[in-house]
Amino acid sequence: MAVRRRTGAGRKARRAWLTVVVGLSMLLAACAKNAPQDTLKPASPDTRSIDGLFWLTFWVAVVVFVLVEGLLVFAVIRHRDKGESEEPVQTHGNARLELGWTIAPALVLFLLAFPTVGTIWRLARSRPNPINVTVIGHQFWWEYRYTDLGVVTANELHLPINRNVRLTIKSGDVIHSFWVPRLFGKHDAEPGRVAHINARAERPGVYFGECVEFCGLSHANMRNRAIAQTADDFAAWVAGQRQLPAAPAAGSDADGGFNLFRTKGCSGCHTIEGVSKGMIGPNLTHVFARTSFAGSTLDMNPDNLRRWLSDPPKVKPGSKMPNLGLSESEISQLIAYLETLT
Ligand code: CUA
Repeated sequence: MAVRRRTGAGRKARRAWLTVVVGLSMLLAACAKNAPQDTLKPASPDTRSIDGLFWLTFWVAVVVFVLVEGLLVFAVIRHRDKGESEEPVQTHGNARLELGWTIAPALVLFLLAFPTVGTIWRLARSRPNPINVTVIGHQFWWEYRYTDLGVVTANELHLPINRNVRLTIKSGDVIHSFWVPRLFGKHDAEPGRVAHINARAERPGVYFGECVEFCGLSHANMRNRAIAQTADDFAAWVAGQRQLPAAPAAGSDADGGFNLFRTKGCSGCHTIEGVSKGMIGPNLTHVFARTSFAGSTLDMNPDNLRRWLSDPPKVKPGSKMPNLGLSESEISQLIAYLETLT
C-alpha cells in the first residue's frame, strides 16, 4: 500500500486547526484570570464543601474516562485488520462482561451518592441565630428585605462576616435563579414557591453574582453583588439604612428633583421612606449609598444616572421603567435629589 503524502492543502488545514485550538486555549485561560464569579475559587465554608465534592466527582470521572477510553484504544489497535485472510471468531454477547459494566458504574454512582447527599443535607440544615433576608427576584433586579432589621434594599446584599445569614428566595414574576458563586450554591426563585439558602462569608469583600435562569430580555443584565463586612461596618450600614433621608433644602436643585420625583410618576413605582410607597421598582430610600444600580450593571455615579434616566429601556432592554421623556435640566435636578439619598 502506498503511503499517502500530506498535501499542501492538508498541511494548511492542520495549521489552521492548531491556531484555533491554541488561540481558544489562550482566550479561555485569560477568562479564568481574576474571574470574579469563579466557582473554583470558593470563599466560604459552604462553597469549599461544594468545591470538594466537585473535585472528588471530577477525579472519579477522570479514572473512568482513562480506563474506558484506554480499553477502547487498546482494542482498536490490538484487534485492527492486519490483513489476515480468515475472519476471526465471532461472538454474540458476553453475560459476564455485560454484568460487569452494569454493576461497576452503578457501584461508582452509589458510592458518590454518600458525599453528595451528605453535602446537600449539611448545606440545607438550618443554623443557629441567623440574620434573615428575603430575596425577591424581579425582572430585572434583586430585592432584599432584612425582615428582622427593617431594611429594604436592592441588588447589593450586605452581610456581616462569620455570621449565619438565612436567605429566603422568592420571585415577584417569572423564574430567576440566585447565585453568588464564591459564597453559596444557587437556587431558583420560582413564583409561588419559597426556597432557602444558607449564606456565610468569612472575609470582607465584594462578591459578584448574576441571575442564572433565563428570565426575559435583560436576563444578562440582572446581576448582583454581595458585600461582606466586619460586624462594625455592617452595624453602621444597618444604622444608616434605618435613618430617614433629610428633606432637600427649599429652592435647591435637589428640591426640584424631589418635586419631579412626585409629579413625573416615579413615586408610583418606587418607595422612598417618608415620601412614597411604590412597589414596582427598587426601594430608593438610600439608593445613593449603593455602589451600583440597574441590576448592578452600572456603577453608581451621576454620569451613569444621567444615561439611565435618559432612556432606561435602552440601557436595560425590557426594563419596566419607561422612558419618561425628561429634559436635561429635569434629569440634573433628579440626580441632585438622588444624591441626597445616602
Ligand atoms: Cu432573572 Cu434571569
